[in-house]
Amino acid sequence: MDFLVNPSLLHSATVAVPGDKSISHRALMLGSIAEGSTKITGFLAGEDCLATLAAFRAMGVRIDARDSTTLLIDGAGRGGLLKPGSDLDLGNSGTAMRLMCGLLAGQAFDCTLKGDASLSTRPMNRVVDPLVKMGARIDSNSGKPPLTLYGGQTLRGIEYRLPVASAQVKSCLLLAGLYAQGETRIFEPAITRDHTERMLRAMGADVETTSGWIQLAASQLLTGTAIEVPGDLSSAAFIMLAALLADDAEVLIEGVGVNPTRSGVIDVLRGMGADIELLNCREPGFEPIADIRVRSSRLVGGPVDPGLVSLAIDEFPVLFVAAAAASGVTRFSGIGELRVKESDRIAAMASGLRTMGIQVDETADGATVVGGTFAGGEVDSYGDHRIAMALTIAAMSASGPVTIRDVDTVATSYPGFADQMTEIGASLRILPAGATA
Ligand code: S3P
Repeated sequence: MDFLVNPSLLHSATVAVPGDKSISHRALMLGSIAEGSTKITGFLAGEDCLATLAAFRAMGVRIDARDSTTLLIDGAGRGGLLKPGSDLDLGNSGTAMRLMCGLLAGQAFDCTLKGDASLSTRPMNRVVDPLVKMGARIDSNSGKPPLTLYGGQTLRGIEYRLPVASAQVKSCLLLAGLYAQGETRIFEPAITRDHTERMLRAMGADVETTSGWIQLAASQLLTGTAIEVPGDLSSAAFIMLAALLADDAEVLIEGVGVNPTRSGVIDVLRGMGADIELLNCREPGFEPIADIRVRSSRLVGGPVDPGLVSLAIDEFPVLFVAAAAASGVTRFSGIGELRVKESDRIAAMASGLRTMGIQVDETADGATVVGGTFAGGEVDSYGDHRIAMALTIAAMSASGPVTIRDVDTVATSYPGFADQMTEIGASLRILPAGATA
């Protein structure tokens, strides 16, 4: 399926976005191996998290959906997962694959984790290597999925310095650490999202964080709890960008997660001149939440602090569009990890923006974007949800219609994106794949 976007501007509105993807995955995983029940509200019913939900059901966990965003998990306990009847298909989700690889490495049974064409090209040695050091036995397809985990291994906690800043790898090792003898110590070279640490503590585990080290004590048992999933800042970022690029709009996005290990996009956009305010800041559970007010602003480019990269890792497609719409030149550096996301996001954004008349120069781990005006045309999402949505926002400001090819994966993280954008001012039509406008 494709999007056909005509020039259009967002109008002032109050909205909410679907639940946080990272927190929804973790809530399912930790709730499934906890003792007692876990109630999740605000769950993201997107394809990625639904793949994780199906995987835990396939391992015998009772998960009742009260409605699409309210789940009640009857925790199976630390040793309560059962061997699934077939391979676990995790679709497009790198988070599901990498975190579950850790959680399942110490089980009594064998199982295989597989994914779609995009996930099957993504690097897994970053989790396989440290898990093998812990005592796991794992086969991969030359470092890529599918991954076969052999059960019945004795895992030992290790001390491990992450070669790349990655919350997925950190979380994988913490989940494996729950099944290991001895403590697990991980050093992260830059701060990454700490949802796993927060949730583990909320479920009673002893997790300490000091000067880049994260330490999980031996033999931790989890207790089920209530988990309120905030709105996903990574999804809110698309609406924030559309509001910034509109003529004179004020948009309030209610109930968004603003965990400081995730909120780098706000800092980068503010540094470019964006008028963004956090209102009604609160912490009802273990994650900070705020209402985000965004007013249309004139953006100015400049160098982006590489220290913010791991705090905004999923928002670079949005930031590329902000840079393209800003005056001046924006330089991104230290963003090489973007090349191994759902697509090569540096190349995908460079290609889409160039087609729309913007000058983008790539390096191995960076890009320079020269601000300009967007022209109409036909661009490719490369099957990547965040590329599709970022180019949609760029297209709203274009001088002519833009067709964005291959947008089905938007449903992995942002179900209802097209309808919601239309309600608040986008002129957007969904077309069957390959249809001409
Ligand atoms: C995620 C971590 C990030 C991010 C991904 C979700 C998570 O990946 O890109 O979308 O939920 O832990 P890395 O940790 O590999 O950078």
